[in-house]
Amino acid sequence: MKKEKQLIIANWKMHPSTLGESKKLFNGIKKTANTLRNVQTVVCPPFVFLPELKKLFKGHRIALGGQNVFSETAGSFTGEVSPLQLKDSGATYVIVGHSERRAMGETNAMVNGKVLLAHKTGFVVVMCVGESERDNHGKYLQFLREQITEGLEGLKAKDLATIVIAYEPIWAIGKTGDDAITPQKLHETALYIRRVIGETYSQKIAAGATILYGGSVKPENAEELLNDTDVQGFLVGGASLNAKDFGEILTIGNKK
Ligand code: PGA
Repeated sequence: MKKEKQLIIANWKMHPSTLGESKKLFNGIKKTANTLRNVQTVVCPPFVFLPELKKLFKGHRIALGGQNVFSETAGSFTGEVSPLQLKDSGATYVIVGHSERRAMGETNAMVNGKVLLAHKTGFVVVMCVGESERDNHGKYLQFLREQITEGLEGLKAKDLATIVIAYEPIWAIGKTGDDAITPQKLHETALYIRRVIGETYSQKIAAGATILYGGSVKPENAEELLNDTDVQGFLVGGASLNAKDFGEILTIGNKK
């Protein structure tokens, strides 16, 4: 693989509870992020904190992202946030199709609608895929293939330059230790994802695609998950709520 910046994204989910806490956490992360040349750090806070955090990040090596977005630009869609609104709030990245959103009913077709509009609006789109469990017959691979091809439907090869695939197996999210993914399993799956992209687009596009891993990434396992596999960074949930832990993960990414 070519030498490139690692992409490390903090997914704060529905934390922290107050703007004050979110500013403190953001400033803590920023301190480390600003010293690292080989990592693109992205923080995805709850929507409501974006405009205030935008004021804190000017000129720094850190970007903001949304955790979700809607598939229409405007209209009567109570409770939704459009790509235009998200952009105006300071986000340049957006996570789409996280398993926690899919669990609330998001289908591949809905994810696809969001991917297409967010891409058109100029976002770097981080599309999450991941099986809920692994079977011995490889059915989960077909499931992943469908999530990828149906989620990206309508995008041309050139569009893939700003699309990131985050592999987040549901069984490995929010875990503490032994039940986390192994580098070997991650490596095999990342190669498979690359193969699907290759078959859908081209080998060249596949070779240049950015694939992230998410699921219980911690300072303790970040090094082996990054160095012994074919991924270019992480989507971090729990550990991104602690500036020290997340800073350590960023520092590990910077060394790759
Ligand atoms: P986790 O979450 O790091 O807490 O497992 C990852 C995610 O759901 O994006």
